[in-house]
Amino acid sequence: MFYDAITNAHGLRHDPFKALVAPRPIGWISTLDTNGVVNLAPYSYFNAVSDNPHIVFFSSVGPKDSANNVEARGEFVCSLATWDLREAMNATAAEVEPGVDEMALAGLEAAASRMVAPPRVAASPVALECKYLQTVTFPQTEGGPSSNLVVFGQVVGIHIDDAMIEDGMINMDRLRPIARLGYMDYTVVDTVFSLTRP
Ligand SMILES: Cc1cc2nc3c(=O)[nH]c(=O)nc-3n(C[C@H](O)[C@H](O)[C@H](O)COP(=O)(O)O)c2cc1C
Repeated sequence: MFYDAITNAHGLRHDPFKALVAPRPIGWISTLDTNGVVNLAPYSYFNAVSDNPHIVFFSSVGPKDSANNVEARGEFVCSLATWDLREAMNATAAEVEPGVDEMALAGLEAAASRMVAPPRVAASPVALECKYLQTVTFPQTEGGPSSNLVVFGQVVGIHIDDAMIEDGMINMDRLRPIARLGYMDYTVVDTVFSLTRP
């Protein structure tokens, strides 16, 4: 099949777009609001775009607390969502009033960050401490304006649980990150293969 992606006339039961750009890693973004209250939410429009310097982004479908807090306070942390943390991660997607500590609400313990003020999820084996760089919006898109805000940050500090490191490399069998597919579906990284570049 082929369909016009501007009118989005796919004719399927559900929009397949997210199932076609899959898997997407999940940035579990913690921020502080202007009163210092912890906000935590998962974003699967999330990825790394550069490793020198280390830069990540997450994209907010319209203004939400995470993007607002990053723009107001200039910092965020991306904790890694793993198989063991899948239910807690999902709980933090709930729409709650600003000013509610979403880490505590999900029963998660916060751990202090080193170089930024927002805490990381203590139970997560990896966390990226980030300083805000810029927000990109797309005023000109075919078919109308986009409401997305793409927030970029430079990773200034990285936590790794030592138990995830074996022979100087990350052991993915132990890490077990989860990622978003389409619909309500997820995957877990449990198959790893290597290719030598030509
Ligand atoms: C796995 C997962 C991925 C999500 N990815 C996004 C995303 O990329 N962009 C977005 O705007 N919302 C996304 N959401 C929804 C937000 O997490 C949800 O709207 C949340 O309440 C936003 O919280 P905040 O207002 O505290 O930032 C996702 C939800 C889940 C469960």
